[in-house]
Amino acid sequence: MDDNSKKSVLSRRTVLSAAAIAPAVVAAAAAGAGTAQAQQFKTADKVAIVTGSSRGIGAATAKRLAADGFKVVVNCWVNHDLATAVVQDIEKAGGQAVWEQADIREPTAVRRLFDVAEREFGGVDVAVANAGVMSLAPFRDMTDEDFDTMVDTNVKGSFNTLREAARRLRDGGRIIATSSSIVQLRSPTYGPYAASKGSMEIYASILAKELAGRKISVNAIAPGLVATSLFLDGKTDEQVAGFAQRTPHGRIGEPEDIAAMVAFLCSPDGWWVNGQTLYANGGVI
Ligand SMILES: NC(=O)c1ccc[n+]([C@@H]2O[C@H](COP(=O)([O-])OP(=O)(O)OC[C@H]3O[C@@H](n4cnc5c(N)ncnc54)[C@H](OP(=O)(O)O)[C@@H]3O)[C@@H](O)[C@H]2O)c1
Repeated sequence: MDDNSKKSVLSRRTVLSAAAIAPAVVAAAAAGAGTAQAQQFKTADKVAIVTGSSRGIGAATAKRLAADGFKVVVNCWVNHDLATAVVQDIEKAGGQAVWEQADIREPTAVRRLFDVAEREFGGVDVAVANAGVMSLAPFRDMTDEDFDTMVDTNVKGSFNTLREAARRLRDGGRIIATSSSIVQLRSPTYGPYAASKGSMEIYASILAKELAGRKISVNAIAPGLVATSLFLDGKTDEQVAGFAQRTPHGRIGEPEDIAAMVAFLCSPDGWWVNGQTLYANGGVI
């Protein structure tokens, strides 16, 4: 038996002897204690805040979470009419939602979002830090203004949201920060945007550890190319078709593809994914 095999047998013996000392632990494990714990997170009567949910991925996420039983706080920056329409769609489908304008770059505005959730629905169980902006240019052409807007919104605004979530989420909840597959793809012109999105992945993995003991799972989700104005604006149909060919599934993503992944992470079964980044991009290369 080599050294590694000996260590493995020893560690298994250690576990078995610990189990003999604590039969309740064995019984709980046999009954699937972890799963039972996850099942405590039922979506009925749970409340979700989705930043940047007046359109695009955030709007699809708000609608999906509402369809799954969450009461939802929809958030916009300037497009009040679109936020209103998202709430109306949710209500028509039998769900509950309110909308609130809040510029996530302002800590006081983010606090107001959580205030609204607590006042209208009694608390917050899920926070999705989804709002984001993108400006593309080679390093030599990137303007200070565009750089600052991305950092203020993506890095600081998401931090504001995650900090408030860390302070005010009820135990057993979920926190999700929206990254981007560009963090791995690293295409030219995406430098500052990719750097700002990379912070989501770092935030999620560190916050997951900080919230130890509260049964809150914190993850980042990294969409690929998704058909929203953030991705489509300024691109020709031919360019979009070219991007679709870079995806093994033969199309770019729809906002609902990403919403489904967020819904999984927010479901009872998603609980065990913690401190990770879920790359959801159809396999784009
Ligand atoms: N689309 C993609 O291909 C793709 C790929 C990877 C990652 N992502 C990420 O996914 C997230 C959503 O992107 P999307 O494509 O759905 O974008 P989008 O269609 O452009 O929507 C952006 C959303 O963010 C809101 N927003 C922007 N700045 C804000 C601020 N300062 N305060 C509050 N809300 C603000 C907008 O509100 P208003 O309507 O009021 O302006 C809107 O609801 C972003 O974090 C983005 O980086 C997108």
